Amino acid sequence: MDTNSKLNNWEDPHYVHPWHDFKKEANHFALASKGEGIYIYDQNGSRHIDGPGGMWCVNLGYGRTEIADAISDQAKRLPYCSPWYYSNEPAANLAKKIAERTPGDLNNVFFTTCGSTAIDSALRFVQFYFNFLDQPQKKTVIARDKGYHGSTYFAASISGKERDKRKLDTLSENVSFLSDVNPNLRDTNETESQWCDKKVTELEEKILELGAENVAAFVAEPILASGGVVIPPKGYHKRTKTICEKYEILYISDEVVTGFGRLGHWFASEEIFDIIPDIITCAKGLTSGYIPMGATIISNKLMQNLQNTNYEEIIFSNGFTYSGHPVSAAAGLKVIEIMERENTLQHVQSITPLFQDRLKAIETKFSIVKEARGIGLLGCLEGNIGTSTTEESKLKKDYDFGSLIDKAAEKRGLIIRPIINMCVFSPPLTITKEEINILFDILEESLKEVENTI
Ligand SMILES: Cc1ncc(COP(=O)(O)O)c(C=O)c1O
Repeated sequence: MDTNSKLNNWEDPHYVHPWHDFKKEANHFALASKGEGIYIYDQNGSRHIDGPGGMWCVNLGYGRTEIADAISDQAKRLPYCSPWYYSNEPAANLAKKIAERTPGDLNNVFFTTCGSTAIDSALRFVQFYFNFLDQPQKKTVIARDKGYHGSTYFAASISGKERDKRKLDTLSENVSFLSDVNPNLRDTNETESQWCDKKVTELEEKILELGAENVAAFVAEPILASGGVVIPPKGYHKRTKTICEKYEILYISDEVVTGFGRLGHWFASEEIFDIIPDIITCAKGLTSGYIPMGATIISNKLMQNLQNTNYEEIIFSNGFTYSGHPVSAAAGLKVIEIMERENTLQHVQSITPLFQDRLKAIETKFSIVKEARGIGLLGCLEGNIGTSTTEESKLKKDYDFGSLIDKAAEKRGLIIRPIINMCVFSPPLTITKEEINILFDILEESLKEVENTI
């Protein structure tokens, strides 16, 4: 038995993946063996374009020995020191560099281990904040249908993708949801601006229904990524932020996907949507997926408000063994250095029109695609293959859209991420124009195959 088949045999009984199906006898994942640029190779040496960029995270592409060297050098010099009683050079430097790139006065960086723990820490901070401000009843967090914020208990509780919560308990107390903001769900005679009015009004009505004195925070991804690259209507971000200000509700912008260049800016909140949140969460692109790390970034204003209280001590007793991990921080510093040297943000801005033009063109070319939507280097195809006569098979087919495209694309050397009736992609930001054309040529051939066979 060769090493790879041995590994496959060990994997099934021992390695439990995220979203694992315990009923399946074997999960049969391909074995990833190496990566180079936008490509990932499997155990047989076959090469695929990594359409989702790992999991929206390998922003600088694979094979960056510079990042690997930074990790290795730091691990040799100082692999760990307790953040409870030491500081370390990479973490302190990285906090400063992040603060220089965040909007407004978001200068206080609390390092976490991933996106979920960044969200959890943000939510715990908000509760802590209002407790110290002597408003302990101000606890409810408003989130949105189709939002995704992670897999820890609190983060999962504010995530609005029902499929992710099957048979899993979540908090229902102090969590409240707003309906899907996807503009394509509006009536045919409704304009996008009327849709925006409706969604903004819904937030305000929800606050009034709950009582503003009970609402602590509104949590929103600028673009609902895992929900299917949903782009809220124009003006929505700014107007929801204004409402939050009116009722003294904190605005948490979850930039775990949009941060670090995905939309051509360090952060999307201010540069694209013209808002300065109270808290920003980030992860993924922060270390380009080379090593885990996340961050919860808090404004000076919130810190100042805490300092102005009469309490003698304001200890935020939330933290992780690996908060400010020196090795992860060294990777984060290298990522920022490379992005600046290679002008990654400008590169993303310059290739986005081609990426979005080729994406949008799909909508007119294929009847099985209901919508091709995207922004920056985020793309999503939503299927429309439920043309069968019975409602049941129509639903079943729609459900299969993502996996049908995924299979057809994989054969041709492209990985995309199927999500029920959608497939999403967010390639490494380093992708060239030529590679964008290859990606979309493969996608179109795959769509042609599926269109001809269903
Ligand atoms: C917007 C958003 N927030 C939070 C998370 C959770 O991040 P992690 O999986 O690193 O815990 C994700 C993960 O995909 C995400 O997309």
